[in-house]
Amino acid sequence: MCGIIGYVGNKKASPILFEGLKKLEYRGYDSAGICTISENKTLVEKDIGKLDEIKKKVDFNSLKGNIGLSHCRWATHGKVTKENAHPHFDCKNRISIVHNGIIENFQELKDYLIKKDHKFRSGTDTEVIAHLIEENYKGNIENAVRNSLKKIEGSYSLGVMCLDEPDKLIATRNESPLIIGLGKDENFIASDVPAILKHTNKVIYLENHEIAVLTKNDVKIKLDKKKIKKTIHKIDWDSELAEKTGYKHFMLKEIHEQPRAITETLNGRLDHGGVDFRKELKFSEKYLKNLDRIIIVACGTSWHAALAGEFMLEELAKIPVEVEYASEFRYRRPIIDKNTLVIAISQSGETADTLAAIREAKNRNAKILSIVNSKGSSIARESDSVLYTYAGPEIGVASTKAFTTQLIVLYLFTLLMSSVRKSLKKDVMKGLIENLRKIPLEMEAMLNDTKSIKKIAEIYKEKDHALFLGRGVNFPLALEGALKLKEVSYIHAEGYPAAEMKHGPIALIDKKMPVMVIATKDVYTYKKVLGNIQEVKARGGIVIAIATEGDKQIGKISDCVIYIPKTLYILSSILAVVPMQLLAYYVARDRKLDPDKPRNLSKSVTVE
Ligand code: F6R
Repeated sequence: MCGIIGYVGNKKASPILFEGLKKLEYRGYDSAGICTISENKTLVEKDIGKLDEIKKKVDFNSLKGNIGLSHCRWATHGKVTKENAHPHFDCKNRISIVHNGIIENFQELKDYLIKKDHKFRSGTDTEVIAHLIEENYKGNIENAVRNSLKKIEGSYSLGVMCLDEPDKLIATRNESPLIIGLGKDENFIASDVPAILKHTNKVIYLENHEIAVLTKNDVKIKLDKKKIKKTIHKIDWDSELAEKTGYKHFMLKEIHEQPRAITETLNGRLDHGGVDFRKELKFSEKYLKNLDRIIIVACGTSWHAALAGEFMLEELAKIPVEVEYASEFRYRRPIIDKNTLVIAISQSGETADTLAAIREAKNRNAKILSIVNSKGSSIARESDSVLYTYAGPEIGVASTKAFTTQLIVLYLFTLLMSSVRKSLKKDVMKGLIENLRKIPLEMEAMLNDTKSIKKIAEIYKEKDHALFLGRGVNFPLALEGALKLKEVSYIHAEGYPAAEMKHGPIALIDKKMPVMVIATKDVYTYKKVLGNIQEVKARGGIVIAIATEGDKQIGKISDCVIYIPKTLYILSSILAVVPMQLLAYYVARDRKLDPDKPRNLSKSVTVE
């Protein structure tokens, strides 16, 4: 959703805020703005468009002052206009606000404030907060914010500044993420870690209803007026991970980072011929052994990883698994008992629906295991146990390295469950681990040769529609391939289980339709998939197959083949997704689109 960064310190605020916004732009890029305080004046520049476009129109650098707030917007209330861009102000431009979230009772508050003669300049829900604080301001901005929050319903993370107290930033949140960054003679607020990583790696995670008061030398966190002690977390991400380091786009960089991300996700977790989660997993062996069901909740790409996880867990650990869209699960009355484990998968750890789903499950006494990338995020904090993916910050809006590292953690957890439940023989387990260890190198080799994918991207460049087919563990991959293509290239794409095609989608196939088929070798469905390819060819479709190295047969019946290294069937999806990610990237590039900032999307969906 939207991105917030605030600064108070000795340095000029506006360049720091601009740099920080660039790191948060994945959260929203409809419009952006910065405000500072200098010489008893509130200074502001804002406009519509992406940051680089805005920079050509306005002079952010002209904003003097050592304190400021900034925001990049993903519109919820009010169209994309300059007036609706943040920051927003009270009637006299003394109180400045940046906000992420949705104020549900904004109309009621607006009517009340209009009666009190407040003058509104935008169509946003946010502006009511500025006027409400103005209404409550009696010489103490902290108290004015606290009293205003009592009237506000909805989700928010807020940064507030007041001209009458020009050395202070106020920050607070409810159901929307906000962190405090602690520097030397400077402090920060931000929606996410990458925004401040260049300046500090010391972070406090603000919880719902806490109010932070920041000056350059001090940070106080209060709950109900009482000062509280908070843990300071050290972020071990290298600030370079939040830079493009020579790549044109974050998406391409993050695709190429996957071998490293997988290696780090495996690091220290494979031991003594098995999986070692002793330092992380807070569940006893007895608890895991007695489980009779697992429910996995997630959204989007993470949901696709969950579907692959279902296949792994049922196939190897022999435990029943159900996969649910978090947004659906949260509004059902799911049947859960103490022997049901709920697993939540989320890159950001802040997705509102996934967070709500785990709360629903907790209310029903389920234990929660989360698979999360962002350390200290809300989902991680609210889970009974967390298994992190060590992908590093994912900045491209389309999820890539988070997906493959999620698959790795699911595979590791499957191996652990298999050993607890004694569902696999020792030598089988050994083979599964040996093949897993080879994945980073195999992926590296694939990424070193992308010529054929660039050529295939040319086929897609002019197309309006595309189909992706897969079976078994590779069916979720067909969904993921279609999602990647549609979100960054705007080509309408559908993913289907290959055999299901006959029940409808086959009607779409003609000589213009590219059909990507994941046809890696396995003992289960390979031959059936070959049959599905013939069905597509018989109707004139263009078949692009993803196949196992050395498979000559597939070349005879497909228009193009992308080969992936030979690996175990269950691991093949981790490799086979790479060409699909690259395809989506190159098609977007060839269509002159920005794959890092696809239209209408935001990376972290923190509203319902
Ligand atoms: C697609 C994509 C989204 C996310 C989804 C869940 O490329 O990135 O579909 O996967 O919004 O986000 P997380 O994993 O942060 O909960």
